[in-house]
Amino acid sequence: MFERFCGLVAAFVLFGTIGAVEAQTISVPAQPTFAKDVAPILQKSCQNCHRPGNIAPMSLLRYQDVRPWARAIKQQTTLRNMPPWYISRTVGIQRFKNDPSLSDDEIALISRWVDNGAPMGDERDMPPPRKFDDNDRWHIGDPDVVVKLKQEVLVKAKAPDYWADLDLEDLGLKTDRYIQAIEVKPIKGVKAVHHAVAQSRFEDEQGNLQQGLLEEYAVGKFGDIYASDTGRLIKAGTQAYVNVHLHANGEDTPVQIALGIKYYPEGFVPKHIENVQHVGDNEDLDIPPNTKNVRADGYSVLLQPARITAFQPHLHNRGQAQCLELIYPPQVSGGRAPKETVSCVDRYHFNWHIVYLYSEDEQPIVPAGTVLHVTSWFDNTAGNKYNPDPTNPIAFGQRSIDDMSFSWLSWYNLSDDEYKQMLAERQDKSKRLSASR
Ligand code: HEC
Repeated sequence: MFERFCGLVAAFVLFGTIGAVEAQTISVPAQPTFAKDVAPILQKSCQNCHRPGNIAPMSLLRYQDVRPWARAIKQQTTLRNMPPWYISRTVGIQRFKNDPSLSDDEIALISRWVDNGAPMGDERDMPPPRKFDDNDRWHIGDPDVVVKLKQEVLVKAKAPDYWADLDLEDLGLKTDRYIQAIEVKPIKGVKAVHHAVAQSRFEDEQGNLQQGLLEEYAVGKFGDIYASDTGRLIKAGTQAYVNVHLHANGEDTPVQIALGIKYYPEGFVPKHIENVQHVGDNEDLDIPPNTKNVRADGYSVLLQPARITAFQPHLHNRGQAQCLELIYPPQVSGGRAPKETVSCVDRYHFNWHIVYLYSEDEQPIVPAGTVLHVTSWFDNTAGNKYNPDPTNPIAFGQRSIDDMSFSWLSWYNLSDDEYKQMLAERQDKSKRLSASR
């Protein structure tokens, strides 16, 4: 069974790669213009952040805004720094639900346009302006409940970074409920909010305090909507708070944060319960000054068969790269544990906390006993642009100038039967797909 499973994964990864190549058949025009060719790409992939009042430093709405940035745009798109999406394009799973990255042809088109002098072209070719998804819109649909910080926080123009747990208003939960979708975000002072992690606090029957992760906000991330038969349990009486990391941005900035939750109907129990947890933590970090490629490993075990839905590396300023490897239990293939690397973020950018949501067809379906092996690398040299001081040795800690090493992993457990059935379905699909090629 395990060998079969591994073969299957290989087939899917391969298929993903072939699919990506096939998708890139749009040809690059010889004389691309802003109006006809470039503006649609910027609308689709850039303007959501690059517009007045949003998180990016400059607007890319109009030709006159964009023209002075042409060289930088060529550079940042060619390096694949923009739009932010740093998963390896050569290792592991290649299909995601939320991949905003440009195709090779789109990048080539932008490059050619810049090399030709970044011409405007014919005004009449301009697409109608894009309508925006605003920050104050809920991306998860209409929440059933919205709670805000009990008190706004003022981030002074100049102030040291600030970490705190801030209470949210009462969730008012009278019964246990299952969460269908959840979103947390700043609704005021976006530019001052580095992180906002909504957590839950709940006293169990024994009077023990139980705390958990509800949802993380990071620039560019807008909530989680679970699959139709999947939810997360939240117990009656649970309260929520946010762990924030705020930083000064040169002007006094009031910050307000909101958490929105959509529940399944009362009494409804979804088939699968989604977990979102730290895995592969390593708190024994020892990162010498002026050194890069410093490695740390951590391990966790999945006790039941599971379907893994998302991966998000968590590192701080010195973060350089992270990979997630799955090591399968050895009981089948003569004691030899097969293993595979499912995801690597090969150019970790501290500024960006991106959740990589696996496409349904590539979500790893793994047996009980699978070991999650998280490997991180750190760059404590001046070559790392997020490094505030390469002369310091770095250890584990909460401040962003300390470091951390773990992945946020999202998965749901399966019964043995579901596990077998899901594998069989995937194998069928894989067969059909290879037959149809
Ligand atoms: C998710 C939000 C987001 C998206 C989408 C995005 N950007 Fe950015 N961009 C930023 C932010 C924020 C910065 C500031 C630097 C940083 O934090 O990385 C930036 C920086 C840049 C810079 C460097 C500016 C400088 O000061 O040198 C360029 C050029 C750029 N973006 C172009 C683009 C282009 C072109 C696209 C689309 C293909 C794009 N960006 C998509 C948020 C975004």
